[in-house]
Amino acid sequence: MKFFAAAAISSLVALASAAPALQCYEALRFGVISVSPTTLAAGDTATITADFTCAVEYYNHVPKYTDYLLEVPQNNNGYEAPYLLAHREPAPGTLTDQFTVQASDSLCAIPHAYYWNASYDIFLQMTYPQNGTDGSTYYTVGGVYAPVTITTVNA
Ligand SMILES: *[C@@H]1O[C@H](CO)[C@@H](O)[C@H](O)[C@H]1NC(C)=O
Ligand SMILES: *[C@@H]1O[C@H](CO)[C@@H](O)[C@H](O)[C@H]1NC(C)=O
Repeated sequence: MKFFAAAAISSLVALASAAPALQCYEALRFGVISVSPTTLAAGDTATITADFTCAVEYYNHVPKYTDYLLEVPQNNNGYEAPYLLAHREPAPGTLTDQFTVQASDSLCAIPHAYYWNASYDIFLQMTYPQNGTDGSTYYTVGGVYAPVTITTVNA
């Protein structure tokens, strides 16, 4: 019994040390998006960064297009369509996609559908190629989001 326990532990250790250094779980299959800062006043610049390390190296989801949308979270009134912040085409092999938006221009040009002092999501929609059974390429889409709050503090 004692021997069995010891053997089980050492095989766990062997498994752990054989695992790749990259820790990827399913939530990372379309990339990870972060926004900094997460609270924006008029005039502030936000840096939006997407990391595709797990998406590319573990899931083979190589981004062809990355679209960044400002969205009203879940229970909006149904008329607040997502607002396109940026459409990008990362170079093949790119693991990090980064750009800035300023709350006084693109984020501010939203008087009819969007409101200040409110919470939004920045949604990353990632389009990536797949191999069809006949050898042709087709594209599928997945996404992740990060929350952001837009205030009027400096307006
Ligand atoms: C947003 O919140 C700030 C701080 O509470 C307030 O001064 C401002 O009037 C609010 N703006 C709107 C449009 O509600
Ligand atoms: C598609 O096939 C090519 C050639 O075999 C391969 O390099 C590529 O990784 C495949 N892509 C996917 C998404 O499976």
